[in-house]
Amino acid sequence: MSKTVLVSGGAGFIGSHVTVELAQAGYDVVIADDFSNCDETNYKGVCAILGREMPLVTMDFCDAVAVERLFGQWHIDAVIHFAAFKAVGESVQEPLKYYRNNLLSFLNVLEAAKRQGGCNVLFSSSATVYGEPEELPVTERSPRQPATSPYGNTKQMCEDFLRDAVGAYPGIRGVALRYFNPIGAHPSALIGELPRGVPNNLVPFITQTAIGKRECLSVFGNDYPTPDGTCQRDYIDIVDLARAHVCAVARMLDGRMKAGYEVFNVGTGRPVSVLELVTAFEKVNGVKLNWKYAPRRAGDVTAIWADPSLANKELGWRAERSVEETLAAAWAWEKRLAGK
Ligand code: UD1
Repeated sequence: MSKTVLVSGGAGFIGSHVTVELAQAGYDVVIADDFSNCDETNYKGVCAILGREMPLVTMDFCDAVAVERLFGQWHIDAVIHFAAFKAVGESVQEPLKYYRNNLLSFLNVLEAAKRQGGCNVLFSSSATVYGEPEELPVTERSPRQPATSPYGNTKQMCEDFLRDAVGAYPGIRGVALRYFNPIGAHPSALIGELPRGVPNNLVPFITQTAIGKRECLSVFGNDYPTPDGTCQRDYIDIVDLARAHVCAVARMLDGRMKAGYEVFNVGTGRPVSVLELVTAFEKVNGVKLNWKYAPRRAGDVTAIWADPSLANKELGWRAERSVEETLAAAWAWEKRLAGK
């Protein structure tokens, strides 16, 4: 009998790609989203890729009654929780908004899992929990650093909520996946990243500059202690990242976990600088990008990349796509949005 996976935030950038991979792997997927930070574009894209209407519940996970109702309506074998605010800068301006939304929604999921007598819970965490790492690459045993933003703090706190719930309530199992920098789009160009307003993240800013929506990309800082002076990150293809979720869900459902709560880095293990990414984008897509150096951005770490060997070994997963393939997919998606 096929298993049902609830995907909160399933209409967003990561959630929509995960929904596609789960459905293609044979899971029944229920998408839940409040559309507070996205429109229906990705939901429609998911249905187009899969060739059928996917179950969709429009709801806010901060509404405990609605979450309880949802768990009563479907038999949820696993839940993947994406529904959260994610703008680092905004979280500094509006910390209470972030704490209320990101913490309460996850508490409601855990309460529902407990009330049901157990559930497999996958939390969408971030490499931001490592702060400015002392050793590179970072492993899951690298220390978490005090968070530098309320956004980062909610990621750490939700990891702890999950760990403690697993420890206290029989039947709840948990996995936290710590994403490095997810980029790209589905190869169909039917789903992708849809930032509202001016993008905060690098790749949407690059594609919007290339298409003419933004005048010029600012490369934040060229005096970092890195080979070319710009920051280094571990850019992970969104479809590769989505597949890690399928592996983690299967591991939970098949009873292959080695502990009730597990944490995995989801990255490539390959550092790429801002300058290298810009150059790779221009080369693979044959476009010239208008960019300039600008001062460092507050809060940015110099360099971070993953040691993904635990996920490689335990999840049987590895990142497969090259950064060039990923940047070609991101560009195809931007062009499709622009109708070009
Ligand atoms: C941030 C968050 C991370 C979150 C991720 C995706 C922190 C410290 N980082 O990662 O938790 O998961 O976003 O939402 O909380 N850059 C430019 N010009 C730009 C934009 C970015 O040069 O216009 C540079 C940045 O300085 C950085 C790199 O590009 O070196 C990547 O930036 P970005 O895409 O914003 O991701 P992070 O800050 O690494």
